Formats: sequence, structure tokens, C-alpha cells
Amino acid sequence: MSEPRLLIRDLAQLATPAAGDAPLRGASLGAVEVIEDAYVLCAGEEIEAVGRMRDLGPLDGNVVELDGRGRCAIPGLVDCHTHPAFGGDRVEEFSLRAGGASYEELHAAGGGIRSTVRATRAAGEDGLRTAVERHRSWMLRQGTTTFEGKSGYGLDRDTELASLRAVRDAGGVPTWLGAHAVPPEFEGDADAYLDFALAEVLPEAAEIAEAADVFLERGAFDAAQARRYLEACRAAGLALRLHGDQFTEQGAIPLAIELGARSVDHLEATGEDGVRALAASDVVGVVLPASALFLGRPMPPARTLVDAGAAIALATDFNPGSSFCESLPICCSLAATQLKLSPAEALSACTVNAAHVLGRADSLGRLAPGYRADVVLLDAPDWRYLAYHLGGRIVDEVVLAGASELR
Ligand code: NIG
Ligand code: FE
Repeated sequence: MSEPRLLIRDLAQLATPAAGDAPLRGASLGAVEVIEDAYVLCAGEEIEAVGRMRDLGPLDGNVVELDGRGRCAIPGLVDCHTHPAFGGDRVEEFSLRAGGASYEELHAAGGGIRSTVRATRAAGEDGLRTAVERHRSWMLRQGTTTFEGKSGYGLDRDTELASLRAVRDAGGVPTWLGAHAVPPEFEGDADAYLDFALAEVLPEAAEIAEAADVFLERGAFDAAQARRYLEACRAAGLALRLHGDQFTEQGAIPLAIELGARSVDHLEATGEDGVRALAASDVVGVVLPASALFLGRPMPPARTLVDAGAAIALATDFNPGSSFCESLPICCSLAATQLKLSPAEALSACTVNAAHVLGRADSLGRLAPGYRADVVLLDAPDWRYLAYHLGGRIVDEVVLAGASELR
């Protein structure tokens, strides 16, 4: 007997971003198609058809039905920037920050990323696997059906590789953030650390990861070091990403453009020249408003970027220090209230454009025939509640590759 098909029927609305061979920008970023009184028909792991209920003909064979009444369907959300492979937490540091200490001061005093490096090394491979699985389950509850996950809290060979395997085996898209910070054994000598990482870790990291990432910032890696790291990673076959312009502009945007990076992420400190350059390029600007909020920093100039013609994506930056937030719906709310993006622009930014950043836009990020059957059912009569319902229990049910995972 053939496998049953899944029919999600009588949906109040279905909302899906526009198609595109390249990341959406300009007016097409906000061009979400909305179908009222809709259905989604899934066959196996793929979407077979979507449309209006009144156009749905009789279905032959074995069909399992899911009641969409009072609910809206949007594509499974794609979180293209997370750091889920870590041990311990930073709740103590969070409390200190609440009392006035700054993130940069804590980092300079040996806390921050380096305290998570100690806890991550101590967690061991099993501990890391448990942590990534747990974080993945939190994300799924918020409607994230695909996540990218970075290493970068091991910074030694074994822990970096264990982090990448943990992300891959949890179903995530692994990124080697080998240049996140200089670990204590190389204190004060970022170049010596990069010599080690590129010689001892890159060959195996490139077998597991899809992309490489670097933290280009004062106190982390400078532009020359970032270039050396990224060029070596590109030669090993990895796509390129950068953490850039988070606190200060250090040349991340020109470097990303020159090297043909997929994205430059953060951009809280990006000025007019950076906006112009990014808008004229194919590099996606990934904005992370939960991170700016969590650190009490200025928001990235997302509206200006979109109006200038840049392609942007929206992600959580989930991590223990600067964004302990796995919720893309909250990021959509922040996108609307803080970044002045429309709900439609926010939806496209964390579905189809995020899928482009991960090199998966042919199968993820839209509700259309042939795409993977990743569907989020919102407890809402209008899909824009995704951004409107700030911090509420908006995700009612998640269908992952055609199977209901969460109800
Ligand atoms: O994207 N900026 C660098 N890395 C992370 C934060 C890491 C941490 O604080 O643990 C980020 O914000
Ligand atoms: Fe990050």
C-alpha cells in the first residue's frame, strides 16, 4: 500500500514568500502570497500542492487529514545563524550585566566567550550532543525546522570537531567558527592560533562543515587574520560567513564582498558606506535583533539596508552570552517594532532568504510544490500574528518533512 498523504485543510490563511533564484531584495522581499481558506497537501517528505479549498478536487488513496480551522500555515522557519554547541551557561554574567557591567568588559576580563570555552571543553562529546539536541528541540517548538549551528566554543581540535558532528547529527547545518576567539593556550597570539587551527583542524572540519565563519572585531580577529582564515577555508571547499560590524566597523563588508562570502552577520555598527557597498553586492546581510536587544546595543540598520536594495536575512544568533533566545517569532516581532520591517519582509528574511544563506533555497523556505513539507501552523486567524503576538504561544503545531512533530 502506498504511504498516506497528509492534507492540512480549512486553513484560515496560508502565507508563502516569493520564489527567486537569488535572495529576495527590494519589493520582492515583502511580496508574500496569501491564500484564504487554504490547504497544503504533502506526499512523503514533499509538498505536492497548495491552494484554495474550493479548488481541491477529490483525493484518491490513503489521505490523513489535519484540521487547519482557526490556524494559518507558513513555511517552516529557517534559522541561519545559531551557536547551539556549548556547555554551561552565562547566567551569572547576565546578572552582572544587569548591574551595569558591559559585555566587552567581561570579555576583556577573561569571561564572556572564554568562560563558555572552558565549559564546552569540559562537556565532552556526549555532553555536547545532549546540549545541541536540547537546543534543537527548543528551536523546533518555536517553529524552526532548519537550523544552522556553529562550532566556536571548543577552539581545540577535538572539541571543534565534536561540536560540528553534534550539529550535523542533530539535523543541523554545521558551520566551522574556528576563528571565534583566541583560546587561552594562545593568549595574545592570534596568528599562532590560526596557524594551529588551519593546519590541525581545518582538514577534518571541512569534511563535516558546509561553511566557515570568523569574528572580525577588536579583541577577536583583525581583517588580515580574517582574510587568511577565510581564504584557507574557501580553498578547502567551504562557503564563507563573517561576524562583522557588531561593535565596530573593521572592514568586514568589503572583505565579505571581495571573497564572495554568503553573508555578513550582525551589522549593528554598519554606517552609510557599508550599507551602500552591501546593497550593491550579492552578499546577504544577516540581522540579529535579539542579540542587539539582549546586549542593549543599537539595532542594525535593516530598514536602510532593504531600502538601499540589500538582501537581508533574519536570525536569532542563539548562544549563551549575547542572545539566549531561540525564537524566530520573537525576532519577527523585533523586526517589525525595532527594525521597521513589515511582517512580510520579516517572514521572507527568516525563510527563503535564510535558506539562500544555507544554500538550500531550492527545497526550503516556501510552501509550494516540490519544497520539503516543513509547515508551521500558527494559532492565529491572520498569519501576521507571527510578528504581532510578542512572545506568545503562537506556534501551534509543526510539520517536519511531512510528519507532525509537535502539537
Ligand atoms: O554572535 N560575536 C560573537 N559571537 C557571538 C557571541 C558569543 C558569546 O557571547 O558567547 C555572537 O554574538
Ligand atoms: Fe553569532
